[in-house]
Amino acid sequence: MSKVIQILAFESSCDDTSVALLRAREGDLKPSVVSMAIQSQFDVHEKFGGVVPELASRAHLKNLFPCLKKVMAEGELQKLSEVDCFVSTQEPGLIGCLLIGHSAAKTLSFIYDRPFVGCNHIEGHLMSIHLDHTMAFPYLALVVSGGHTSLFVVRGWDDYEQLGVTLDDAAGEAFDKGAKLLGLGFPGGPEIDRLAIQGNSSKYRFGRVQTKELNFSFSGIKSELVRIHQREGSQLSLVDAAASYQSAILRHLIEKIEAAVEFTGVSNLVIVGGVARNSELRRRLAELKSQNRLKNWYAPKPEYCTDNAAMIGVLGYRKFIQGQFSDLSSDVKATVRPKRKPQSL
Ligand code: KG4
Ligand code: ZN
Repeated sequence: MSKVIQILAFESSCDDTSVALLRAREGDLKPSVVSMAIQSQFDVHEKFGGVVPELASRAHLKNLFPCLKKVMAEGELQKLSEVDCFVSTQEPGLIGCLLIGHSAAKTLSFIYDRPFVGCNHIEGHLMSIHLDHTMAFPYLALVVSGGHTSLFVVRGWDDYEQLGVTLDDAAGEAFDKGAKLLGLGFPGGPEIDRLAIQGNSSKYRFGRVQTKELNFSFSGIKSELVRIHQREGSQLSLVDAAASYQSAILRHLIEKIEAAVEFTGVSNLVIVGGVARNSELRRRLAELKSQNRLKNWYAPKPEYCTDNAAMIGVLGYRKFIQGQFSDLSSDVKATVRPKRKPQSL
């Protein structure tokens, strides 16, 4: 019988503390999730209308071990010495937050004399589709979250290239900042999504965003919302503003997706990251598919779209089976681009 490999992963790059246990049989391309805990910090940051880094670090410190206990109990992991590899998010993210998961994973790796693997958070999001889908390569992948917006072509396991990236804000950040301006709760994406359903998306006009190649920019859309908000004053319709603003963000995303399909000839799309939960984005992608402008599109289930340790565990497993271990003296990084492999497009 082939050996069972157990991976314990930690994610603490921003405002979700997450721990996951994954298992694979030796030779498997990917592991399965055995148990996962996610502790959101919604109640900590809501009153500030955004993530407060120091409070986020402290909340990770408080939540990490209760999450680990839950994962061990649900996954029937009796002893941490049974784990084959400890994994954590190393970059990019809030430094104080990254340090919590990173220190925990490194310490366990040292105590139990097992390999440690530090992972890139965006590469983790790219892996999240493999948690609940069997994907055929190649495909395009749109990573749309609160901190990142990038478009990739994924040609195989561990073989992908970034085609474009945001030049300023991330799409989720644009949702959050727009919602704050409109006096909605935090995080703003789900609030705008909910309100927009009742609104008229052509009520307020936003100009088309023009960026070079397959890059994104959301700061202009945000500035237009500020101008509309000032111009309309008390006459502003909240639902129509939410619908029009959301529509402008999504139009930009869809235009770049279509340009990437044309550029690469790859017409299967994966969407990952928090904004992949957006209902109107999903409706528009379904429309593109029905018009044969996309072959198909896929998204992980909602809890795998937002930050979670399971996606970091898949990436950690891929690195583990290739012997790509990290050094115990490795540091965390606030910003970094995921590694690329040169491709001929
Ligand atoms: O992936 P994630 O949990 O964290 C980062 O890595 O940033 O994504 C969080 C982001 C937030 O900006 C949130 O507003 C956005 O995802 N989001 C949404 C929706 N649900 C979450 N944006 C639009 N529509 C949604 N339904
Ligand atoms: Zn994320």
